[in-house]
Amino acid sequence: MKIVIENVGKTFVDSKKKEVIALENISFSISEEEFIVLVGPSGCGKSTLLNIVGGLLSPTTGSVYFEGEGLDSKEPNLGIVFQEIALFPWRTVYENVVYGLQERKLSKAEQREKGQHYIDMVGLSGFENAYPKQLSGGMKQRAGIARALAIEPDLLLMDEPFSALDAQTRTLMQEELLTIWNRTKLSTLYVTHNIQEAVYLADRVIVLSRHPGKIKDIIDIDLPKIGRNDEEYRMQFEQYADDIWQLIRHDAEEALKEA
Ligand SMILES: Nc1ncnc2c1ncn2[C@@H]1O[C@H](COP(=O)(O)OP(=O)(O)OP(=O)(O)O)[C@@H](O)[C@H]1O
Ligand SMILES: [Mg+2]
Repeated sequence: MKIVIENVGKTFVDSKKKEVIALENISFSISEEEFIVLVGPSGCGKSTLLNIVGGLLSPTTGSVYFEGEGLDSKEPNLGIVFQEIALFPWRTVYENVVYGLQERKLSKAEQREKGQHYIDMVGLSGFENAYPKQLSGGMKQRAGIARALAIEPDLLLMDEPFSALDAQTRTLMQEELLTIWNRTKLSTLYVTHNIQEAVYLADRVIVLSRHPGKIKDIIDIDLPKIGRNDEEYRMQFEQYADDIWQLIRHDAEEALKEA
């Protein structure tokens, strides 16, 4: 299945009735099994775009549609992981993970099978009965990821899922996400403002500029998906990171002045 984002624009009206063009003329597509990372400075419209692709927000212009087989018979499934940990505090890890399966009226046996499978995959075995408040930040995000994966989505959307974590946990979670991706091969749209993270995870990096948010460049990361951190790719990795930083730098400085 392919996801097509065509000429998407979004204009907000702020509290002073002033129009803010958050996105303009955004077109790209996400192929089957492709991992796309959106990067750009604060306020460039990354979350807005992710929410539009996820159907949580409607675009002012343009459209988002899915192409592929079997689409007539069902709505595409979307798995979403937000920056803010969005677990239900009154549900255990297991109950959070199977939430989407209950909504879809899967049998108890199927819920158990899929729920356990994805809990194991994110490394939370043994914590099925824990409540969110008993978990560390990294573990909560793992539970959030397991919940998004459990519905076996056609597209996984992630908005800065690791930005609230400390640097070490973040590095470990990035590695784990790659391992998970390698097993599930889900088409993914991932938002970050961390350039190293973008180069580490992406098949393609889409760089957005700000005011209005437009596509500045799309960069193919031509490195093996697993093992990019290895010494032999160090030079190429840093070159990609530097190229992206040069594209963002000016806008990031402007964003800082406004903050
Ligand atoms: N509901 C809204 N009403 C008015 N303006 C909005 C609204 N949501 C977003 N904006 C504006 O649209 C622009 C893009 O916001 P968005 O949150 O998508 O940026 P972002 O790239 O995700 O930023 P960050 O990196 O800080 O998360 C900003 O100028 C923001 O102020
Ligand atoms: Mg955002």
